[in-house]
Amino acid sequence: MDLQLKDKVVIVTGGARGIGEGITRAFAAEGAVVAIFGRNPDDAAKVVGQLAAKGQRAESHPVEMTDEAAVKKAVATVVKRHGRIDIVVNNAGGNDAVSLRHPIEAFRASLENNIVQCFSLVHHALDHLIAARGCVINIGSKCAATGQGGTSGYAASKGAMNALTREWALDLGRHGVRVNCVIPAEVITPLYERWLAQAPDPEAARAQLEQTIPFERRTTTVEEIADTVVFAASPRSSHTTGQLLFVDGGYVHLDRACTQPTSHLKQS
Ligand SMILES: NC(=O)c1ccc[n+]([C@@H]2O[C@H](COP(=O)([O-])OP(=O)(O)OC[C@H]3O[C@@H](n4cnc5c(N)ncnc54)[C@H](O)[C@@H]3O)[C@@H](O)[C@H]2O)c1
Repeated sequence: MDLQLKDKVVIVTGGARGIGEGITRAFAAEGAVVAIFGRNPDDAAKVVGQLAAKGQRAESHPVEMTDEAAVKKAVATVVKRHGRIDIVVNNAGGNDAVSLRHPIEAFRASLENNIVQCFSLVHHALDHLIAARGCVINIGSKCAATGQGGTSGYAASKGAMNALTREWALDLGRHGVRVNCVIPAEVITPLYERWLAQAPDPEAARAQLEQTIPFERRTTTVEEIADTVVFAASPRSSHTTGQLLFVDGGYVHLDRACTQPTSHLKQS
């Protein structure tokens, strides 16, 4: 299937690591030009170099996403270079474990890092997205639907992201701009590996985690998230907007009682 993404100009925030890196690679493989906005210029340079060796196109824009002036400048640079912005992927963010015990400043900082910067990017890219009849993909988290405990700032941000997906889909639909949210639950990225490494027995912790995922008892791959993002962003998804797309092996919506060893609801 031709996803009709050749020469589309795509901004991927946090596009040099983890899920974002997968999204960058998936768009580049479809012939799009990817502008990586993020904090890790060394990682971005590596990804850009590897893609260039395959004849694919990406470029690095070192940007701290909570710095609005830097975001505005980077958007202007992309437009100056390529004349357009077709797709924005709000991927940068992270579970910072800011809980109810933290000072309120930490909660505010978490909102800045996980949701305010997404508003900032779409705000500054807005006229270009409208001109291109483009689209926005937000990367959410299961915790907006399930809670997680100990992470008020991140959960509030991802809840707001779900709400803004629908709000922006309505706002921008009249301009032909679609807005969707792709929601992972458990994806093994470098960040996740570091978190697992803190467990007394990382292998056992990983095996236990996998048992909680209804479909195939495994975590979701970066590529599975990236492929859904690319399809949802492509003109092949031309009548899909305002959707929360859970790519999680059924983690959020299927009855996980069936994943318990003692359950009588065992899958056949
Ligand atoms: N990995 C999972 O299991 C999982 C589950 C649910 C949701 N998510 C979401 O997926 C997205 C990517 O997660 P990941 O696991 O790939 O994380 P990651 O830490 O591996 O990668 C995130 C990238 O974004 C960058 N970044 C973060 N905040 C930034 C900022 N303010 N300015 C510039 N760059 C910034 C980081 O430096 C990093 O390069 C996040 O929004 C996360 O909430 C991940």
